[in-house]
Amino acid sequence: METEKKTHTAAEQMTDRDLSEQIKKVTKESHVRAENTELMLSFQRGKVTLPQYKLLLCSLYEIYQALEEELDRNSDHPSVAPIYFPAELARLKSIEKDLEYFYGQDWREKIVIPAATKRYSHRLRQIGKENPEFLLAHAYTRYLGDLSGGQVLGRIAQKSMDLKNGDGLSFFAFPGVSSPNLFKQLYRSRMNSVELTEQERNGVLEEAVRAFEFNIQVFEDLQKMLTVSDNTLQSSMTQSKPVKANTL
Ligand code: HEM
Repeated sequence: METEKKTHTAAEQMTDRDLSEQIKKVTKESHVRAENTELMLSFQRGKVTLPQYKLLLCSLYEIYQALEEELDRNSDHPSVAPIYFPAELARLKSIEKDLEYFYGQDWREKIVIPAATKRYSHRLRQIGKENPEFLLAHAYTRYLGDLSGGQVLGRIAQKSMDLKNGDGLSFFAFPGVSSPNLFKQLYRSRMNSVELTEQERNGVLEEAVRAFEFNIQVFEDLQKMLTVSDNTLQSSMTQSKPVKANTL
């Protein structure tokens, strides 16, 4: 009798014991919460604004800088090597290009890094030093998300902000990945090939839930900043005080 319950088609050959299945399962509820943050709802409704998108890019810059530096530094680590795909996945250069498009050549002096984003990047740097196997959880959360819902969000962003010729949208483009679905299958099988002790595996699963939580906090923080700056702008207008230039 078969003891392991098969959950996928024979072609994918995945089982309940596979990390890729477990990670998807444990983060399912967090994924729903992430989708329902105000920022993600704005995207889904085709109502994402330029200030929202610009601020999101600032946060993504800080996050991917930390994530990719730590992945690079740990690229030979046995839990990182199988899922290390810089040529296909690295986002930092694309984000820099988008930031330059929106903020100009001196974008480095203009970008703002909200507090929740700093906490996320701090965690990434910490695990890069102390528990490199947890990088797997963060790489999964960001890159597989970018290759899934992210592809739809890119098309929505283009329409919402009427961007032309892919300008400002490099973040969503993966020229090194010809089929996101096939690539995701490869990525999952690589995740499943990583050898982890039971304790390490549980740690990775917990870290994935945490990774989603960090993202949710980044989105909420960003939205709060925009609401505050909107209100400040409105109240300064009603009080007829000089209106500060909105740099967002
Ligand atoms: C997968 C939609 C936000 C992380 C997916 C899939 C869809 C989707 C349709 C494919 C599901 C499948 O293949 O079974 C969306 C939408 C979002 C959103 C519409 C927001 C508007 C996010 C966010 C994150 C994220 C904010 C994390 C930061 C992931 C991950 C996967 C995924 C890691 C891969 C799941 C797996 O196959 O293991 N998303 N998503 N998503 N999403 Fe999202």
